[in-house]
Amino acid sequence: MIRHARPADRPAIGEVTAAAFGRTDEADLVERLRKAGDVMFELVAEEDGQIVGHILFSRLWADRIELLYAALAPVSVRPDRQRQGLGGELIRAGLDACRDFGASGVLLLGHPDYYPRFGFSAEAAAQVASPYAGSPAFMALALEDGAFEGPLTVAYPDAFTA
Ligand SMILES: CC(C)(COP(=O)(O)OP(=O)(O)OC[C@H]1O[C@@H](n2cnc3c(N)ncnc32)[C@H](O)[C@@H]1OP(=O)(O)O)[C@@H](O)C(=O)NCCC(=O)NCCS
Repeated sequence: MIRHARPADRPAIGEVTAAAFGRTDEADLVERLRKAGDVMFELVAEEDGQIVGHILFSRLWADRIELLYAALAPVSVRPDRQRQGLGGELIRAGLDACRDFGASGVLLLGHPDYYPRFGFSAEAAAQVASPYAGSPAFMALALEDGAFEGPLTVAYPDAFTA
């Protein structure tokens, strides 16, 4: 079951995130984003009452102030449940929720072999100025036509650079 995260899920989300990445940096990022109030929404994958996956979308600041942009990071699946489709389910459900929130587009830094299957591409991010511009890992998915037609400058929440 994929559902919105609740405050009571936070310890389990921290455990899943740390286990997925094999370190605590991404779990710490999640905490910093929450403390700063920069989380747009979080989803969890729950199985038999246990959290086995998590995805977070945060608000980005763009110089096109009439539009809402989201950053996808991080996404985690518990190691024993990886490569069984859960990550894909979380990402697709997250993108649907972004549409519900009225987001025009989503940006991420991720593996260039993984995210194109969900529609992300480095080409779509090519006209976006950001600290990550130019990296093949910096990818965008427009949820509305023209969302990433440049020039467009985005700023990430401070939690990403802390
Ligand atoms: C990335 C992650 C969320 C994907 O979730 P998942 O449930 O394992 O993914 P799915 O089952 O939906 O898709 C599996 C496919 O994803 C791809 N994939 C998974 N992890 C990948 C990675 N780290 N790099 C590149 N491709 C990856 C593979 O192509 C895999 O297909 P295969 O089994 O045929 O090789 C999960 O593996 C994870 O938590 N990894 C550790 C944390 C992480 O790296 N997060 C993403 C940061 S960008």
